[in-house]
Amino acid sequence: MDYEERITSAQLGQGEERSEFSIRPKTLSEYIGQSAATDNLKVFIEAAKMRGEPLDHVLFYGPPGLGKTTLAGIVANEMGVDIRITSGPAIERAGDLAAILTNLNENDVLFIDEIHRLNRSVEEVLYSAMEDYALDIIIGKGPSARSIRLDIARFTLIGATTRAGSLSAPLRDRFGVSCKFELYTPEELADIIRRTAGLLDVSVDEQSVYEMARRSRGTPRVANRILKRVRDFSQVKGTGSIDIDITRSALEALGVDYMGLENLDREILRNIIERFDGGPVGIDTIAASIGEERVTIEDVYEPYLIQIGFLNRTKKGRVVSRAAYNHLGLDYAGDDSAGTDETDDDMQMSLDV
Ligand code: ADE
Repeated sequence: MDYEERITSAQLGQGEERSEFSIRPKTLSEYIGQSAATDNLKVFIEAAKMRGEPLDHVLFYGPPGLGKTTLAGIVANEMGVDIRITSGPAIERAGDLAAILTNLNENDVLFIDEIHRLNRSVEEVLYSAMEDYALDIIIGKGPSARSIRLDIARFTLIGATTRAGSLSAPLRDRFGVSCKFELYTPEELADIIRRTAGLLDVSVDEQSVYEMARRSRGTPRVANRILKRVRDFSQVKGTGSIDIDITRSALEALGVDYMGLENLDREILRNIIERFDGGPVGIDTIAASIGEERVTIEDVYEPYLIQIGFLNRTKKGRVVSRAAYNHLGLDYAGDDSAGTDETDDDMQMSLDV
């Protein structure tokens, strides 16, 4: 199955945008988790509003499904301005970006998802727009070509990326604030599941809330999707309210194990164990041997496998841990000291908030 169709995929599936939107929090007080980011953003928003200025440009980075778009919407709402949402691959030419920028009103938010996928010529237009709220437009060709400067409304760019390390330095430097999104704790996911269950008007007992939270791989989008699927099972095969029996049987039917792993996670681990003696093995070799893209493994699968201690990223390559062998019911033949000397290529910024 394609990873976009998996129950535990952090990507939005077709038609999900709309249903997600109705359960999305609209204010900072409704937003659960990521407090390192939201505590600071609260201050910056308040200060910008007091000065009557746009909020400084903000970069959100971290794995998919953690609420970057949701938080961008909240920032705009709290600022009392409109938000225009687009993505790196959707802006093909410099003129497309110019059209968007010239349509913004004072203090508006422009949200660009997957900002690391902007092409060079588009990115260059963004530099002067971010720094001087101006567009440099070339008129004419050859020796008579000249450049004119067009002022645009003062706006806030919120860029989101799963890979901060892939951003060019000039673009990265133009963000005044950058927020790293972390995977959610089971307690935070339990709060999100309770909130969503309330909005969907479905009753869930506490044991089931925790069972779903624990199996949601640190990701609200996964938690909400699991809740909706379990609700389907309870409606058709149960009483309509969610209890632990229906939760467990629904999760089993969905192929989500008690750690939140499903087929492809297990395949990655098993592959490293069976073909590469548990590692260390390079990410490109893993990608080729299971037929997935390297970025998909890095952005979608690895963060959770690393967080739960099933996979370590070492200088020599990926290594599967004893805990993962145990989880898969396999005998451990490796070396416990094949450490965790992370070579995290994510950028570390002094202004991480
Ligand atoms: N739904 C999805 N993400 C959420 C979050 N962080 N807080 C509240 N509800 C959410």
